[in-house]
Amino acid sequence: MRLPIIAANWKMHKTVKDSLQFAEEFIEMLGEDHKGIEIVICPPFTALYLLGKRLRGTGIEAGAQDVFWEEWGAYTGEVSPGMILETGAKYVIIGHSERRHILGEGDTAVNRKVKRALASGLVPIMCVGETLAEREEGRAVSVVRRQLEEGLKGVELLRPHLVIAYEPVWAIGTGVNASPQDAQEMSRLIRDELGGLFGVEVAQEMRILYGGSVNPGNIGGFVAQPDIDGALVGGASLEARSLADIVKQTE
Ligand code: G3H
Repeated sequence: MRLPIIAANWKMHKTVKDSLQFAEEFIEMLGEDHKGIEIVICPPFTALYLLGKRLRGTGIEAGAQDVFWEEWGAYTGEVSPGMILETGAKYVIIGHSERRHILGEGDTAVNRKVKRALASGLVPIMCVGETLAEREEGRAVSVVRRQLEEGLKGVELLRPHLVIAYEPVWAIGTGVNASPQDAQEMSRLIRDELGGLFGVEVAQEMRILYGGSVNPGNIGGFVAQPDIDGALVGGASLEARSLADIVKQTE
């Protein structure tokens, strides 16, 4: 049995004050009974320490939105795995499409980040997904396969301490979600690919999330699919009520 995950990616939203206020509302709405699901909140770096501290003991995890592949050094603006772990965060999003497409992050950088995060004990949520043009050209599968193979090159995984988020770029922040059937088809392919890389047993235990315009009204259709184990949620995770509703629909 794979424990579902709802991961909130706040992107560049919320100050420290906003993040803590969200935490108060969300913890109260959620109540104590959420053991059948993992909930992860990924705020901007500035809020990670204090939010993580507030979430301690609530069963809600904190995560970072990115990480660098070195531990120390002259890397202006970067944050290392050890620094993230020190905040109490457990997860880290790596290779989000906004980093790939706006900031030019390639598969090699993603691969370095995944390896270093794993070696440090963080759980990567590695994002993959095709653009609209790639889908229309019939290249969605080959693009996702390449992102998996390159992003996970040389990664050894004896336990399922890695999460994959399938996020078709055209569905992110557009209000146009993939159909649950299409997302399932890609998730099945991703699981097959993971089986080839890490063995079928490990792949069966790994969580695969869908991301792209998820909301309380459509999450049910995604988590009903056999290979979709939750969601990476952007816009709809910014309101405590909406995130709590998504969690309730997933449990
Ligand atoms: O990381 C989250 C995804 O980019 C999805 O964002 O839910 O606003 O479409 P969205």
